Order: sequence, then C-alpha cells, then structure tokens
Amino acid sequence: MIPHHIAIVMDGNGRWATRRFLPRVAGHKKGVDALRACVRRCGDVGVRVLTVFAFSSENWNRPPEEVSGLMELLALALAREVPQLQTEGVRIRFIGNRSALSDKVRAGLEQAEALTAGNQRLLFNVCFNYGGRWDIAQAAARLAARGEPITEHSLDRAMSLADVPDPDLLIRTGGEMRISNFLLWQAAYSELYFSDRLWPDFDAAALDEAIADFARRERRFGRTSEQVTPAVGERRAA
Ligand code: FPP
Repeated sequence: MIPHHIAIVMDGNGRWATRRFLPRVAGHKKGVDALRACVRRCGDVGVRVLTVFAFSSENWNRPPEEVSGLMELLALALAREVPQLQTEGVRIRFIGNRSALSDKVRAGLEQAEALTAGNQRLLFNVCFNYGGRWDIAQAAARLAARGEPITEHSLDRAMSLADVPDPDLLIRTGGEMRISNFLLWQAAYSELYFSDRLWPDFDAAALDEAIADFARRERRFGRTSEQVTPAVGERRAA
C-alpha cells in the first residue's frame, strides 16, 4: 500500500559534506538534489502529501554562515525549482513561523505558494522555521484568542497541517532515532522508519524501500491485531 502522506527529517547533510572535506553548506546543496528526486518519486508512485523538515526553530543556533547559507539556498532553490514543480503538478506550501524570516525570503515563499496553488498531483509541505511545540502552542493561542474551548478536536483543527491527513510514514535519515521536535502532534500514529543513509544519499530506490517496509507494517491505531486483521473464516464471511 502506498502511504497517502510521507513526512521526512532530512538528516545527514553536514556529515556528508564533512566526510568529503567540504563546507557543510555543500551538503545542504546536495540535499536539495536528493529532495528533488524524492518529490518526483512521490508524485510518480501516487503519494499525495510530502512534508519535509528543512529548517527547525532550533537551527538558528547553528554557525551564522550555515544559517545564512540555508536561507540563500532556499531562495536559490525556489527560483530554480518552482517552474519544474509547476509542470509536475506539485503545489508547494511553507509551514512554520515566518515572522523571523527576512522580507526577501518571505516574499519568495509567498510567490512560490501563489504560483503553484492550483496544482493537485502532490502537496509538498516544506517546514521552515518550524517546531512541533511551536505548532501546538500557536494552535492553542489561536483558539484562546477566539475564546474557543481547547479540546483535542479543536486543537487538531487549529494545527498547521489541519487540512491533510496525518503522516502515515515518518522517515528519518542519517542514522539518528529521534523526532527532534518535528510533527509532534501529527505523528502520533505514524509508522517510523529510520535509515542509516545520509540525506544526500537517500535516492528514489531508498524511498521505494521505505515505502515497501511501510506496506508490511500492521497499523492498529490502538486496537488489537485480531481486530484489524480478521481471521480467515471471518474474512470470507465479510
Ligand atoms: C539536517 O542535516 C538538514 C538540515 C538542517 C537542512 C535540510 C535542508 C535540505 C535538505 C535542503 C533543502 C533546504 C531548503 C533550504 C529548501 P544536518 O546538517 O543536521 O546534518 P548532520 O547531522 O550530518 O550535521
């Protein structure tokens, strides 16, 4: 079964570069290539939503040249990639706190979103200056401002990805086994997949492997195995 929504923590760019005696930003550049291949593959196999972690709220703590390198890379990638996304039917959307971004970066995001807004083949969410705790807090703050009661349902509706189903599969590359403040709320029932490959080495075949692994999982959502997989006799009767 193909997951409807895949989320990815693209980890390992820095190590990829360091191993080659290159500056860390070179790893992020190579990461954009891997991301392009991944977006294309998702569209081709029928994934409908892809959400990636491109810059976390905590990434501001990195060396200033890496932060500015990532900002420049974002602007460059948008200018270069958006026409192609447009021909491939990909709608791009940015999730995260935009207030700390420069006017130039913010304008780039808005332009890319507006240009691709009508595309329906794949929704590509880029989490930029995003944190899972920020997301929950902004949802709660919005409800409070409207004087609405805070319930599981109302919070869910106020989260930044409220208009799409939660991720079915959450992939993290780079060998670390952490969520790192990514989609804390939305990943409650996601299947987790950890790959030792560094993100720049995560190609279409590696994505296929992750999807194949997902297809073998049994998703129970708190129920028992018997409830989700009826016995053979019951299945025949159904
Ligand atoms: C984590 O690797 C990766 C990031 C913080 C950036 C991810 C960004 C991209 C793949 C490029 C796409 C970016 C834009 C701007 C659209 P790391 O640097 O933590 O790697 P390390 O763990 O090996 O140090």
